Amino acid sequence: MTAAADVRMTQAHMNAPPALTVRGATKRFGAVVALDGVDLTVRRGEVLALLGDNGAGKSTLIKCVSGVHRFDSGSVEMNGVPVEVTSPAVARTLGIETVYQDLALFDNLDPAANFYAGRETAGPRWLPRGLRVLRRGPMVETTADVLKRLQVGVADARTTVGLMSGGQRQAIAVARAAAFATNVVILDEPTAALGVRESRRVLDLILRLRDEGHAIVVISHAMDHVMEIADKAVVMRRGRMVGEEIPRPENRQKIVSLIVGGDD
Ligand SMILES: Nc1ncnc2c1ncn2[C@@H]1O[C@H](COP(=O)(O)OP(=O)(O)O)[C@@H](O)[C@H]1O
Ligand SMILES: [Mg+2]
Repeated sequence: MTAAADVRMTQAHMNAPPALTVRGATKRFGAVVALDGVDLTVRRGEVLALLGDNGAGKSTLIKCVSGVHRFDSGSVEMNGVPVEVTSPAVARTLGIETVYQDLALFDNLDPAANFYAGRETAGPRWLPRGLRVLRRGPMVETTADVLKRLQVGVADARTTVGLMSGGQRQAIAVARAAAFATNVVILDEPTAALGVRESRRVLDLILRLRDEGHAIVVISHAMDHVMEIADKAVVMRRGRMVGEEIPRPENRQKIVSLIVGGDD
């Protein structure tokens, strides 16, 4: 861990209960055991890299935490409080925001419309949902504020995201998650489709979110990126956690060996 990370971790976050704790999680798809007794802990101000070869169970784990799937057994705590993540909407209510690999942005909409698509924040709460009107002004303002705070450079915030570069789109998706996440931001391969400079921007954005105190889970195959931004690397293989390492240069080979596995 870097000196800066040491300081961060010894500040407020170390004493608080972890933002997210998963214990003894299992999940089967028919005969396939996707998760076989997985434990996971992420704290505020921490970037956890979730590593593992294809089929290890990474996506299943984050989809269960995000409410897309349900664990067959196991428990989840947020800030020390037991929770049941029964749907994606419940996950969002609990302050968990997930950026999937396909981003799920609406190409024909601008950033503000993308930020608020599908969210029940429109109009006064005393009105029935169907009668609430989307208040565009505040949405545009909030979106612009978030993009500015996170230093996501968008020339014109009214540009539809379909016209933006891969890196800008990724940044918009990450910023959207950051705007609504009060606890955990989960990112599935956030730099997979990006070039060097675009990746740089997204990595910097992730570090900014961490410094704001978010708990962050990043699935990545990009070992250089993991080594740079992660405070903790956990490795899955065949539905189990097989190791946890601090991503220091001297541990790199050990991490790679854990991912590849020696006994297959
Ligand atoms: N919806 C599904 N239906 C059936 N099997 C699945 C489903 N999702 C994942 N699996 C299986 O679960 C295992 C773990 O997959 P996954 O979580 O996608 O791994 P990873 O994200 O680490 O590549 C694999 O054997 C995969 O084929
Ligand atoms: Mg996957």
